[in-house]
Amino acid sequence: MKKKPVRFRESVGIDIGTHSVKIVHLRRLHDGFRLLNYEILPTVPQGVEYVVGDLRPERFVPVISEMLKTLRIKPKSVKHLVSSIGGDDTSIKQIKTIFLPDDELESALFFEAKKHIPISGSDMILDYQVLSVEEKTNNMNILLAATNKDVLNEHTNILDTVGLNPNMVDVDSLAIANAFALNAYVEDGVYVLLNVGAHRTNMVIWGPESRFFARDIPYGGYNFTRDIMSKRSLEWPEAEEYKFEHGLLDDPNVETVQTLSMLDISEKPTEEAIAEEIRRSLRFYVKEAGTSDFRKIYLMGGSAKLKGLPEYIQDKVNIPTEVFMPFINVEMPERFEDKKDPQLALAIGLAMRTE
Ligand SMILES: Nc1ncnc2c1ncn2[C@@H]1O[C@H](COP(=O)(O)OP(=O)(O)OP(=O)(O)O)[C@@H](O)[C@H]1O
Ligand SMILES: [Mg+2]
Repeated sequence: MKKKPVRFRESVGIDIGTHSVKIVHLRRLHDGFRLLNYEILPTVPQGVEYVVGDLRPERFVPVISEMLKTLRIKPKSVKHLVSSIGGDDTSIKQIKTIFLPDDELESALFFEAKKHIPISGSDMILDYQVLSVEEKTNNMNILLAATNKDVLNEHTNILDTVGLNPNMVDVDSLAIANAFALNAYVEDGVYVLLNVGAHRTNMVIWGPESRFFARDIPYGGYNFTRDIMSKRSLEWPEAEEYKFEHGLLDDPNVETVQTLSMLDISEKPTEEAIAEEIRRSLRFYVKEAGTSDFRKIYLMGGSAKLKGLPEYIQDKVNIPTEVFMPFINVEMPERFEDKKDPQLALAIGLAMRTE
């Protein structure tokens, strides 16, 4: 990994999710970071069910502007802004090639990427990182990140409109791995990171000596609310309330009654679908990477706070599971100390990027 001298004193990490925007403002210390401030704000209408297909990218601009105002950050004064893109037309993959000198590497990787990475649209944008060169074979392990021009343009347009200068754009799954690697006491072995958002769950498998793997599982908090609506015959606002209070657990004050709508549930519950996808991906990883030394599953993202979810996943996947606290190596002023919020993990990983 290349290391350049670090010039910035303060950094801003911004995670634009389908449900909420998360902004983290850090000051760089001699050794590590200090949290200056943060903010989480939903971009979807509160209390009413939204139509996913109706959500427009324009809605982000006023939300981000409002957040910057609350945080007293002047867009033009931000020198080190790190944001990220994710979703269907973004992909990241670890590949192996024969050793190639720098000047040949880029064009060779472009052809490799076209083979390995399914990106729609014609203008593929590629970034790569040489992870290691194997001594025996002289093969190179390379992390390829790809997206297309439309995705990147839409993203930078939002930031431009707010007045921010998008100088560093990362990929969600890399920022997740970064947040973890910089904020955990990692031993050997392999770790499974799940960023459980509103509409998707980014799954990353990472270990200091292991193959990098990332994919998206297409479920999140939105699906949990929908489940509660049908299972408990509630409207959206009540279902959301129930979700925040009880999560996957039964309300002890309400006798569970078998309602008609329970018979309607033809699909399996979201937690079951997620657990199944995790198991499927782990099986694939074991075959590809030749290791099954999974030490822990860490949950991050807003839906990591869903009550009962860590226990459910631990039980179904059979790997110790806990909610990730993203502030281990970030100094936190006293006023924040009770707010170790896993929903901020990705934004922190972004703000902690130094190169
Ligand atoms: N305390 C809580 N308990 C349960 N769910 C919660 C809680 N707090 C937030 N959520 C849920 O977390 C989700 C938002 O999380 P997050 O900000 O990580 O998503 P996002 O990044 O906007 O979405 P995505 O990553 O899918 O684009 C919403 O579905 C919200 O209802
Ligand atoms: Mg998200």
